Amino acid sequence: MTFTYLPTGITGLDDMLDHKGIPSGHTVLLSGGPGSGKTTMAIQFLFQGATQYDEPGLYISLDEDPADIKQNMLNFGWDLATLEDEIRLMFINVSPVRSGGSERPGLMQLGMKEFKLVKLLEAIREGIQEVKAKRVVIDPITMFMLQYPDEEERIHALRDLIAELRMTSCTHLLVSELRGTGVDREYQFEEYLSQGVILLRTHQKGEKLVRIAQVEKMRGVNIDPQPRPYDITAEGIVIFPELPVFR
Ligand SMILES: Nc1ncnc2c1ncn2[C@@H]1O[C@H](COP(=O)(O)OP(=O)(O)OP(=O)(O)O)[C@@H](O)[C@H]1O
Ligand SMILES: [Mg+2]
Repeated sequence: MTFTYLPTGITGLDDMLDHKGIPSGHTVLLSGGPGSGKTTMAIQFLFQGATQYDEPGLYISLDEDPADIKQNMLNFGWDLATLEDEIRLMFINVSPVRSGGSERPGLMQLGMKEFKLVKLLEAIREGIQEVKAKRVVIDPITMFMLQYPDEEERIHALRDLIAELRMTSCTHLLVSELRGTGVDREYQFEEYLSQGVILLRTHQKGEKLVRIAQVEKMRGVNIDPQPRPYDITAEGIVIFPELPVFR
């Protein structure tokens, strides 16, 4: 199979992806601990897509109010509201945290009660059509999976979601929470189901806590599987693909 690739726009990450990026159409898990920069990286992927590569984006928020995200991301110089006005970016809020009556036109709201696979997919399809999205983020899928307390049902629900996402022509980032960040951690089933996995973790090095990014897998790409240090800077996430973590 021959792929076309989407440069992620995350400094250093494409170097770990054979200098190419994510194969177009892939569903990739972006998994990390609390505050590791998952939302920042996911928004960076959409922002760079919309501004550098003329690829509109769709962000499905299952946790944080999009108004807060837009405010926080101004920190990195990313003016998401303008991209929204230009119909190059769209937010869909399925968060239980509602932001009152001051929603911008075009921002969709779903209630938690209706928040089932079918409704989620309907919202995604509508959003994709509306902005002609090429890049889609669901942040975090944990909220979706919590709806299925039974593990077997949960695996099937995620498998169904990924199968449906593959029918769109978009490339997807599924943000997830990483349980246990040590080297000997147990793998989570979502890592097996996704076509790619990017991990954001921390590592204690002497007295210092180092942030490490790792491409665990990316089907169809000759990856650099080594953990590499990264920083959250004023320009967003920066990975150092030449630097070792362990030596
Ligand atoms: N300019 C900056 N320089 C350095 N760090 C920053 C900067 N701006 C924000 N941060 C840090 O980035 C961290 C990550 O934010 P982000 O919301 O992307 O993480 P997350 O993994 O999505 O977190 P959560 O698990 O809460 O969803 C925050 O804890 C914040 O301290
Ligand atoms: Mg987040």
